[in-house]
Amino acid sequence: MSFDLEAIRSQFPALAITDNGMRRIYFDNPAGTQVPTCVAEAMTDCLLTKNANLGAYFTSSHDAGAVVQGARDAMADFLNAPSSDEVIFGQNMTTLTLHLSRSIGRLLRPGDEIILTRMDHDANVWPWAMMARDLGIEVRWLTFNTGTFEFDLDELDEIISERTRLICVGGASNLTGTLNDIKAICSKARAVGALSFIDGVQSAPHVATDVQDIGCDFYVCSSYKFFGPHQGILWGRREVLEKLEPYKLRPAADELPWCFESGTLSHEGIAGIGAAVDYFSSIGSSMAGDYAGNWPQFSGRRQHVHAAMDLFLQYEKKLVLRLIDGLLDIDGVTIQGISDHDAIDRRVPTVGFTHNKIAPDVIAEEMARQNIFIWSGHNYAVDVVKTLGIHESGGVARIGPVHYNSIDEIDEFLRALQPLLSP
Ligand SMILES: Cc1ncc(COP(=O)(O)O)c(C=O)c1O
Repeated sequence: MSFDLEAIRSQFPALAITDNGMRRIYFDNPAGTQVPTCVAEAMTDCLLTKNANLGAYFTSSHDAGAVVQGARDAMADFLNAPSSDEVIFGQNMTTLTLHLSRSIGRLLRPGDEIILTRMDHDANVWPWAMMARDLGIEVRWLTFNTGTFEFDLDELDEIISERTRLICVGGASNLTGTLNDIKAICSKARAVGALSFIDGVQSAPHVATDVQDIGCDFYVCSSYKFFGPHQGILWGRREVLEKLEPYKLRPAADELPWCFESGTLSHEGIAGIGAAVDYFSSIGSSMAGDYAGNWPQFSGRRQHVHAAMDLFLQYEKKLVLRLIDGLLDIDGVTIQGISDHDAIDRRVPTVGFTHNKIAPDVIAEEMARQNIFIWSGHNYAVDVVKTLGIHESGGVARIGPVHYNSIDEIDEFLRALQPLLSP
């Protein structure tokens, strides 16, 4: 079997909901995706049959421990982590980043520098900017080209130096959709002895992740963006994690990964993470056989998950091309991101656009009336909208298809948009 949209959609009950006879069209996926039944079932099962704190002698505690370990193994497969001991769970990406920034800050000294970007979501900017302020460390800024919506890596060469200790950059922008060349950036970081911290929140749902190939030191993502529950996941390279002082309570475990997981975890949420990875794996084994050969170095679930991501990516490309072409046909629309067909591989399907007369909020509100769910505004990508000069005008209207959306939904959205933007 190859890509079977109906078989996929049938696994997501939320896709079948109607309101006053209108179907729901979910294009709010960059803000959070819907979940397949298996995720909800795993979470329910954890709550109903394995509800205990970890580390006790009794059965439910063992079972809850097995759920957490199972999800760590699953995330190690998802990320191609060398070991599940390097997989750290937390409430969300922002909380994990704020928490880790305190430990990373202990490695820095006056005179050191860090590099942040103007393309990142604030969750990969402000935790570090505050850390730098507290420590008296200088921040160097990597901006992006507002014509290509990409970084110019020569500019990185100008600001990186032996003083650079950390580079924080996103895998993909939640506003422009640009997919960054994080492998090249991490390599430049390594060359000067700097650490790299990758915000994979918007890349993990769309492109197969391989932290070893990327060559980063940290990679953080959120499972609610890839069909799981509201949880965050941080991968850290063991040698680096072992150098950090974990900010933890005295009785809490000193070993990895526990020492970086503060307080009691959401075991049910973690059960959902494991099930989300298994969802990818089940698609990989049933529909993505053609892509398994892209990952000859992997086997079993690791291979299935990566093949499924490749399958989804190919399909999402069709969606985004249709979306971009349809938007560009409407007078007054500007796509705030890559729109060139030849460069389509350098973006994820998240599309932010503006119109010369109608504000993003007005567009989102009108779409909501028609049960088409889209976001508007800066979407926390504050520096991105400022750099693009669209902060004051309300940011963008953002459409974010994923693999469970259809061409038909894209067309319905475009039909709904037309009378509003060119009456
Ligand atoms: C690129 C990016 N980074 C970070 C975040 C924050 O993620 P979380 O809600 O898990 O803290 C988001 C949320 O939308 C995001 O899009």
